[in-house]
Amino acid sequence: MNLAIIGTGYVGLTTGTCFAEVGHNVICVDNDREKVEKLKNGYMPIYEPELEDMILSNVSAGKLSFTTDLAVAVHECEIIFIAVPTPPHADGSVDLSYIEAVSHEIADALRPEHGYRIIVDKSTVPVSTGSKVSEVIRRYAACDVKVDVVSNPEFLREGSAVKDLMNPDRIVIGANSQRAMDLMKRVYQPFSAPIVEVDLSSAELIKHAANSFLALKISYINAVAAVCEKAGADVELVAQGIGMDKRISRHFLNAGLGYGGSCFPKDVKGFINIADQLGAPMYLLKEVEQINARQIERFLDRIREKMWVLRNKRIAVWGIAFKQNTDDVRESVAVKLIRRLAEEGAIVTAYDPKAAETGARALEGVSVTICSDMYECVRDAEVLVVATEWRQFATANLVKVRELMHLPIIFDGRNILHGENAVHAGFEYHSVGRKSLYPER
Ligand code: UGA
Repeated sequence: MNLAIIGTGYVGLTTGTCFAEVGHNVICVDNDREKVEKLKNGYMPIYEPELEDMILSNVSAGKLSFTTDLAVAVHECEIIFIAVPTPPHADGSVDLSYIEAVSHEIADALRPEHGYRIIVDKSTVPVSTGSKVSEVIRRYAACDVKVDVVSNPEFLREGSAVKDLMNPDRIVIGANSQRAMDLMKRVYQPFSAPIVEVDLSSAELIKHAANSFLALKISYINAVAAVCEKAGADVELVAQGIGMDKRISRHFLNAGLGYGGSCFPKDVKGFINIADQLGAPMYLLKEVEQINARQIERFLDRIREKMWVLRNKRIAVWGIAFKQNTDDVRESVAVKLIRRLAEEGAIVTAYDPKAAETGARALEGVSVTICSDMYECVRDAEVLVVATEWRQFATANLVKVRELMHLPIIFDGRNILHGENAVHAGFEYHSVGRKSLYPER
């Protein structure tokens, strides 16, 4: 099938590439000329495992192409996916201006000879956006082409986007027309995943409700972690114990510094906002946000409690990205932490395997030295803070780290180091929701 994807961000680029991989002909459209040129020349705008090879092979097989010309894509493709950003406004509502602009452009590009078209919303949007897109098309289309609008939310995670797309738990298709539903099911035929067939509004709500529920799980375990710290219990054991109940599951019960990234903070806010607008306020999610905001404060308090004044303390931070396996630093808790430490006058060094460049941009004007080696980063440090859950931090040579550091103190904000190993290497080991461990004197 011929598919157009408008927007080559994380969702658009990986979705388009995976569609090409399973045999569709895909045209990816972006209005950023420079980005499109780079993609045409095999240069990746983002780091995402497995993506580069898949793009290169599908481009050379003629299944995947890039253009800035939206009209050509509308002309050639019966199904047009919208995957443009939906950033938050200051009040938490979702900025839908990119969706509106693209819908308008699609309407302008429709021609009588095109026949039937499906416009699919892939971006995360508040409920009822689909009907607004339909209105825009009706209002601006210069001819009478039959168009259906569909919601097909994406559930991929950055860092495992290709894997998630190729092996989804489920595919949600929200359509108010059987013709659109049948064609959408053909798009997803090559994927062996159950298809959830629902109406347009339910599909839009599924995405907001799913992300908010995952954020809620994280805040729940972080709130439990705070109790564990006071009670002398171990949040990892608690998570294991409750997670073995299939009704709860162990996934997304990792206590830490809280959730970040371009999705959860924005989507929780967006869901709160639309629920307020609809007169069905989600007070529960306001608490989820507050727990998340408190998590970094609690962690900073514990560092201060240990180190007293942070001014002129040498603090090394491992991790800048908002999570492992990505170079994305949007709403990264690690970035917030680095900024806060620097503001308090600490001498901060930071290291991230992939997010050095993006991190340097996000931290412009902040007094921090970004290192290109994780061991160099800890040289002469008095505290090592682990802020992102990269695997290579979990497997670090802690004896070497100890030799390089000035004082043997670790604050593990992601509970990924092996506490006993840290103690054997001579460290005091502080983590989230667990007792601190100290070497024998
Ligand atoms: C999230 C969802 O997991 C995807 O299903 C969804 O498609 C995506 O948002 C989206 O809406 O586009 P993503 O933001 O890429 O994916 O990353 P996650 O793996 O969900 O992690 C989000 C944040 O939660 C990270 O900061 C991570 O460190 C944190 N986290 C995650 C925890 O603190 N504890 C956990 O147990 C899991």
